[in-house]
Amino acid sequence: MRGFLVAFVVVGHASRVNRAIVGIASLALLAGCTSAPAPSFGPGAEGIGDPYFPAYGNGGYDVGNYALKLRYDPAKDELTGTATITATATADLSRFNLDLAGLTVRSVSVNGAPATSSRDKAELVVTPRDGLPRDRDFTVEVAYGGVPEPIKNSELGDGGFLHTDDGAIALGQPESASTWFPVNDHPSDKATYDFEITVPEGVEALSNGVPGGASPAADGWTTWKWSERTPMASYLATLVIGQYRVTTGTHQGRPMVTAVSTRQPRNGAAEQAMALTGEIADFLATQFGPYPFESYGGVVVDDERIGYALETQSRPVYGNVWFKEGLNEDVVAHELAHQWFGDSVSIARWSDIWLNEGFASYAEWLWAEERGRGSVQDSFQADYDETDWSRPTLDPGRAGLFGRAVYKRGALAVHALRLAVGDQDFFAILKTWTGEKRNGTARTTDFITVAERVSGEPLRDLFTEWLTADTAPKIP
Ligand code: ARG
Ligand code: ZN
Repeated sequence: MRGFLVAFVVVGHASRVNRAIVGIASLALLAGCTSAPAPSFGPGAEGIGDPYFPAYGNGGYDVGNYALKLRYDPAKDELTGTATITATATADLSRFNLDLAGLTVRSVSVNGAPATSSRDKAELVVTPRDGLPRDRDFTVEVAYGGVPEPIKNSELGDGGFLHTDDGAIALGQPESASTWFPVNDHPSDKATYDFEITVPEGVEALSNGVPGGASPAADGWTTWKWSERTPMASYLATLVIGQYRVTTGTHQGRPMVTAVSTRQPRNGAAEQAMALTGEIADFLATQFGPYPFESYGGVVVDDERIGYALETQSRPVYGNVWFKEGLNEDVVAHELAHQWFGDSVSIARWSDIWLNEGFASYAEWLWAEERGRGSVQDSFQADYDETDWSRPTLDPGRAGLFGRAVYKRGALAVHALRLAVGDQDFFAILKTWTGEKRNGTARTTDFITVAERVSGEPLRDLFTEWLTADTAPKIP
């Protein structure tokens, strides 16, 4: 029906007869006997509605899976490939956006039919030939390429796609994914991932999830496969390409892959830390509930630009900075704790970041106590005494996402809950939370609701004080 209409418009000289026919065709369109978007179909929003980052994510759909087939040439810093995105419309869509920074789009198709696309800064606007009805699944395929760019951020630290001497590192929070694939870039839309990364022979390519092996590509290069089958927030997707000493094994019957840059000394602190991954994850499982993913691991990169570690799902990435002064177990406990707090249970809004960092910081105290390096109570007291209460833990502001009020004061709030409800209820709350919210997203108020239900005690005032008051709260 649509082709019929277009044909008449094309041949539509200004004759009265043709105008009449176009008019009839338009009426038919309004009557809905064509697959063209009806008036109720509208554009998806260009942001998902996070007040801290209005442009992050997009409205109108929910991604189920990203299948990324990428090729990276370290000599040219060039990335090329296709992203096949399977999603469900959450509104009647005439068009929708994906987040994509830099990079050139070669072609876009939706449900196998060519779609038109345009760029507006980091937004890729896709207009499918036919409207996408609400609740219906659709598939987008984007062929793209170019030299991916890092994200410079003086407030939060560098991230995005970083070129290295021997490869690349794609990493970063709160954003990074849009520098290497088209994405609904917000943790509230989690999805599964399949990666196929083709790199020159002799180069390792690491990512999230279960390893699918390395096989020769047609031109003598190597294709590495990884798949993360448990829903993952986009900032937790990572790609590490270069020269790594890779250790592959199993732990608790699941694949364990750790890797350390060959620039780090053999049997040095970085390798010792990675070797503790299984033991620390097992300890945390006794505190938080079953380990949430199908694989384990960790990667230590050697790059001065990465002055942090990140809880990339099932395989955290650690900057070498953490191991300069010898073995550091705290950072491993921290990133592994995020597998429960942040990765399995993700935040629906960035202002709730303490739900990630407060608990991961608390895990450092738990592991230190387990290792005989001081009690949790002593760690709590020491931090309580030196906390600046003028900054809030909840809703810390964009520039405060990774500040002390989120990490340290967040951990203090966690321990205050423990002191208020007692050990038995406290650990029951944590396990109920990770169990009920597994693979989902949540907000602070959801946590308080679970804590009150499990303990049977009113706790809202306690949380308000510990998360937001500007004077030192009374220790329960
Ligand atoms: N979530 C990471 C951690 O605490 C911190 C990431 C810091 N990000 C940054 N851009 N500096 O483990
Ligand atoms: Zn953290």
